[in-house]
Amino acid sequence: MSETIDGESVAADVRADVAECVETLREEGVVPGLATVLMKADPASETYVSMKQRDCEEVGIEGIHVEIDADAPAEELYETIDDLNERDDVHGILVQMPVPDHVNKRKVLRRIAPEKDVDGFHPENVGRLVAGDARFKPCTPHGIQKLLAAYDVETAGADAVVVGRSDIVGKPMANLLLQKAPQGNATVTVCHSRTENLAEKTRNADVVVAAAGIPEFIDGDMIAEGATVIDVGINRVEVEGEGDETELVGDVDYESAKGVAGKITPVPGGVGPMTRAMLLYNTVKAAGEQGGVDVELP
Ligand code: GUN
Repeated sequence: MSETIDGESVAADVRADVAECVETLREEGVVPGLATVLMKADPASETYVSMKQRDCEEVGIEGIHVEIDADAPAEELYETIDDLNERDDVHGILVQMPVPDHVNKRKVLRRIAPEKDVDGFHPENVGRLVAGDARFKPCTPHGIQKLLAAYDVETAGADAVVVGRSDIVGKPMANLLLQKAPQGNATVTVCHSRTENLAEKTRNADVVVAAAGIPEFIDGDMIAEGATVIDVGINRVEVEGEGDETELVGDVDYESAKGVAGKITPVPGGVGPMTRAMLLYNTVKAAGEQGGVDVELP
């Protein structure tokens, strides 16, 4: 049987470290603030944003939440970002993706002040990450690196396969695994929807990161005995034969993979809690830098 990588527990440790930093900042007169902006109110986005706000409260970060009508002009979102960029009590800004179709996502990302871009999606921050000089590591891949560290997964010299090439997970994950840095130094292959012979590639990997957004895409036959399997998928699917009942499944067929993998993340309770924890981490980092206070983040 595989060892289960407990994201809830590692995330709780990160939150505890973040809460200590928040205390230091508050003693120095800096109250860290995170603004979340939601424009396209689909149920999953609403849930994610409200969880992010609840996390802020738990560690002592001030949460500011702005909702904009999904059919409002794009300009309203840009002006909201401009206002948040100007506010001294806001150190981090997160615009929940996806945004409505009439809003240009790239314009949104460029509008956020890079020093407040706690997602790490602004082109300046993407460039810095690729150059090995990250200001904010994007939350999901950063959280995955923390999981790998917590479970002593050696990436140096390992063959890592990232399945998925999104701006949010696949691309930054591949970059981080490649870097000459802890939880890096891997030989990285990035696979995607046009990859041929996917199973051949994943079967050769010591570490597989499944981030394609396709329910149970990777099964036990596609992974090597003893590999580490990180499942980024959060897919809501109907339960067979149970009418309208739904359940959350990952991009990995957990039942078939758990006997083959050495270590594996569950869904839920694996990567998800880490993504949220690393957002708090980045917010505290942003507050420290903007407030001129040194914070000791691990
Ligand atoms: N939508 C799904 N994941 C994310 C994320 O990490 N950040 C933002 N802003 N939107 C998302």
